[in-house]
Amino acid sequence: MKNVLVIFYSQSGQLETIARNIAKPFLNSKEINVVFYEIQMEKPFPFPWNKEAFFDAFPESFLQIPTALKPVSAEILKTKFDLILLNYQVWYLSPSIPINSFLKSLEAKILFNSTPVVTISGSRNMWFMAQEKIKVLLKKNNAKLKGNVALVDRVGNLISVITIVEWMFSGVKKKYLGIFPLPGVSEKDIIEADKFGEVILLGLIENNLDGLQKKLVAIDAVKISSYLVAVDKTANKIFDKWSNFINNRKHSRKLWLKIFNLYLLLAIWLISPIVYIVHIILFPFKFSKINKEMHYYQGVK
Ligand SMILES: Cc1cc2nc3c(=O)[nH]c(=O)nc-3n(C[C@H](O)[C@H](O)[C@H](O)COP(=O)(O)O)c2cc1C
Repeated sequence: MKNVLVIFYSQSGQLETIARNIAKPFLNSKEINVVFYEIQMEKPFPFPWNKEAFFDAFPESFLQIPTALKPVSAEILKTKFDLILLNYQVWYLSPSIPINSFLKSLEAKILFNSTPVVTISGSRNMWFMAQEKIKVLLKKNNAKLKGNVALVDRVGNLISVITIVEWMFSGVKKKYLGIFPLPGVSEKDIIEADKFGEVILLGLIENNLDGLQKKLVAIDAVKISSYLVAVDKTANKIFDKWSNFINNRKHSRKLWLKIFNLYLLLAIWLISPIVYIVHIILFPFKFSKINKEMHYYQGVK
C-alpha cells in the first residue's frame, strides 16, 4: 500500500475540483491510500474579493511573506507519504500566500522531506516564474520534484484579464455580460484532468517517476507561450520594485496600492501589447533561445 497526500487550497473551488479529478485514479486503486489536506488560513482571505483586499494581497504575495495557518493534523504528520500532489494557484506571479506560507512551515519540512512531488497549478495563464519559486521552496524542503501539470485559461491574455477579474470580484463563474467566454480553466480541461492522474499513478505503482514529466507533456499537461514567459519575466522585475516600495510605506500603503492599481491597468493594456509587438519582431532572431526556454519550462529541472 502506498500513501499519497493531495494538498490544495482553493477559494472558488476550481483548484479543489482539479485536485479531486486528478486524484480520482488514485482513489479507484486498491494499492493506494489517498489523504486530502486543505490548507486553512487562521484569517481567511475574502471570496469574492473586494478591490482593496485584492490589491492589499500584492506585496505579501510577491515578496513571499508567510502568514499564519491552521495546524496540520498529527495523523497526517506522522504518515510517510510516497507521493505528494501539490495543487497551487498563482497570485501576483508567485505562489499564492496560503501555498507559500504552507511551504515555508515546519510541517511542510517534515512532509516534503525526501518525498516525490508532482505540482499542479490552476492559474489564469502566467505561472512560469511562480513555478520557479515553487521549485526553490521544494528544494529547501528537500523534496523531489518529478512532474508538473499547469492548467490555464486558454482564451487570449487580455480577454482572460477581464473575465478573471470579474469572476474574482463577483464570486460567480459566468459569461460576463453574456458575451465574454467563461473565466478560468475550461470545464473540459477540468473534467479531463483525471488523465494526468492515470499517468502519475502508473509511474508511482511501477516505481518509475523519473520519466514522468515527458509522459505528462505528451498529453498536454504543460503548454508554453514564449510571449507569456516574456511578459512574466518583465513583470517580475517591475513587481519586485513595486512590492518592496509599497511594503516599506507603512503609513501611505493604502494610497500606494491605489496608485499600483492604476499602474497595473496601464501595464496590462498598454505595456503588454508593446511587449507582444516587440516579441513578434524579435522572434526570428531569438528562435533558438526561445526554443531552449520552452523546453526548460516544460520540464521540472
Ligand atoms: C489576488 C490574485 C492574484 C492572481 N494573480 C495571478 C497571476 O499573477 N497569474 C495567474 O496566472 N493567475 C493569477 N490569479 C488567478 C489564480 O491563479 C487562480 O486561477 C484563481 O484565483 C482561481 O483559484 P481558486 O481555485 O483558488 O479559486 C490571481 C488570483 C488572485 C485572487
